[in-house]
Amino acid sequence: MALSGQVAKRPYAVKVAGVPVVLWRGREGLRAFRDRCPHRNYPLSAGRIEDGRLVCAYHGWAFTGEGACAAVPGCATADLSRLKAERVAVAEWQGMIFVSLKPEDRLSDGLPDIPQGHDYDHFWWAMKPQRARVFDALDNVLDPFHTNFIHDGLIRVKHRRQRVEQTIETFENGFEATYIQNTDYGWMSRALEGERARSRGRYIPPVAFQGRWEGRKGLNLCVTIWFVPEDEHTVQPMARFTTLKSKGPAWLKQVMIRLFLFQVIQQDADALTKLHDNIAAFGGPQFHAGPGDRVSDKLMRLYNGGKLVPEVLGPYHIEL
Ligand code: FES
Ligand SMILES: [Fe+2]
Repeated sequence: MALSGQVAKRPYAVKVAGVPVVLWRGREGLRAFRDRCPHRNYPLSAGRIEDGRLVCAYHGWAFTGEGACAAVPGCATADLSRLKAERVAVAEWQGMIFVSLKPEDRLSDGLPDIPQGHDYDHFWWAMKPQRARVFDALDNVLDPFHTNFIHDGLIRVKHRRQRVEQTIETFENGFEATYIQNTDYGWMSRALEGERARSRGRYIPPVAFQGRWEGRKGLNLCVTIWFVPEDEHTVQPMARFTTLKSKGPAWLKQVMIRLFLFQVIQQDADALTKLHDNIAAFGGPQFHAGPGDRVSDKLMRLYNGGKLVPEVLGPYHIEL
């Protein structure tokens, strides 16, 4: 994935599940190819865009948006029909570019529902790539119990908990946990949020999470995060933040959210790297579900391509 603005006049290199991909805009619009020239495998992202074609920097072969080779310099009369760059699926949505290595993938299906319209402000945050596993990142963000420890003082606190009602709704291809509670005891929650009525955490397979925090009068914050697998060991979170317009100027909210969340994100990133390294040291994960782990099994099933039976579970009473 990339931000729309990152792909402009030059080819742009990204990595998707370990595979180098080049994004570029030509005559036919936005395109994504595996980042290797079919000739000698030179990275196409090192080339340039000329007359709406992607031109390899090694021998100057030029490719159309369909991947067809349109020119081989020095061989004007040759039949080029065998020579093709490898296209992969790409879609642009709300200022973000999504890539999938499966060409048949319908990328626009299964996109999260984000509040739209004049009532909302949005911004994207392309976070630093982290050494982490995608599964652990999803599990972390859907798990409320770590917040009292890893984010002690900021979001929740270790030594003071409140009673929370948790309800889980499962869908064939996702689930959402709702937490009815008052504002958390951490200072950041207190400073940013006001009174809380409920929060929700939703998993949208394969790699997206959406959190919503609601006050008595409606939505305070919606955060949608795609945990993009650059390779097996690296995750780049791309987050879309949505707030109600009434709550102050958009730029100020963006600055505040970035400032406040910077430390929280760092704390999670550190934890995820520790998990990653320790899991690698032991040759693989070995998880034992605790009494509060009501969504991890569902996450695991969906993440591995399975489905869930739609139902509502709970309410459960927990302390957070
Ligand atoms: S490697 Fe690309 S043109 Fe030769
Ligand atoms: Fe966290």
